[in-house]
Amino acid sequence: MSVNDGKKLLHVESIDVSYGKLKVIFDVSLYIDDGEVVVLVGRNGAGKTTLFRTIAGFLKIRKGAIRYREEEINPYKAFEVAQKGIRYIHQDKHVFSTLSVSENLELAGHAIGNKDFGPVFEYFPKIETLLDRRAGNLSGGERQMLLIAMALLGKPDLILMDEPTEGLAPHIITDLATSFKKISKTTTLFIIEQNLPLTAQIADRVYCMREGGIVAEIESKDEIKKMSFEKYL
Ligand SMILES: Nc1ncnc2c1ncn2[C@@H]1O[C@H](COP(=O)(O)OP(=O)(O)O)[C@@H](O)[C@H]1O
Ligand SMILES: [Mg+2]
Repeated sequence: MSVNDGKKLLHVESIDVSYGKLKVIFDVSLYIDDGEVVVLVGRNGAGKTTLFRTIAGFLKIRKGAIRYREEEINPYKAFEVAQKGIRYIHQDKHVFSTLSVSENLELAGHAIGNKDFGPVFEYFPKIETLLDRRAGNLSGGERQMLLIAMALLGKPDLILMDEPTEGLAPHIITDLATSFKKISKTTTLFIIEQNLPLTAQIADRVYCMREGGIVAEIESKDEIKKMSFEKYL
């Protein structure tokens, strides 16, 4: 792994993360380059969500560093990390279910100081037709689209998506894969995914995580297409 290049967009260097006394991330190093789609795979409990929550500023590291555009960001609070241009879409797909779709967008836009929804509707025209719908009444796929739309407000440089296709029907996953490809033309994506064929389809690079550590990095497009990362799970 080329971990000492200061020009990376995101650079995680030898971090440990614990919940109280329980250490769950062990000496993890990885990098994300501008414009890449990087997918993180690994079984349940491997530490993937913990890693994303740490990058997003919700958890503090015990050792190492997390650099974004060469600046150490882990000391910042989560909202400050978001303001720097990193968005995190949680695994639990939480939206404000009693509010409308447009109210959810307004809240997200307010938090980030951006209310220009136009560019977001270009990626998800469906969301524009659902603005008055109560967010709690959206389908799983529509809810995921809303979450991505909210994350796109303010044109972030990097979006972390935690299992965006979990529980969704195959045809919805196909639609989302198309959206990821469109979004990746302007935004760097770091995605946790358990769907291996989808990973093979969208990833420029794949990291495999097991028991709190990165056990493999697959850079070869050919290896990714062949899903050779399956053996590291
Ligand atoms: N809030 C928490 N407190 C204590 N342990 C946690 C907490 N969240 C996750 N863990 C533990 O950390 C490990 C990694 O969990 P997680 O990061 O959610 O893995 P993944 O997203 O790969 O399924 C698991 O053993 C899990 O039980
Ligand atoms: Mg998880």
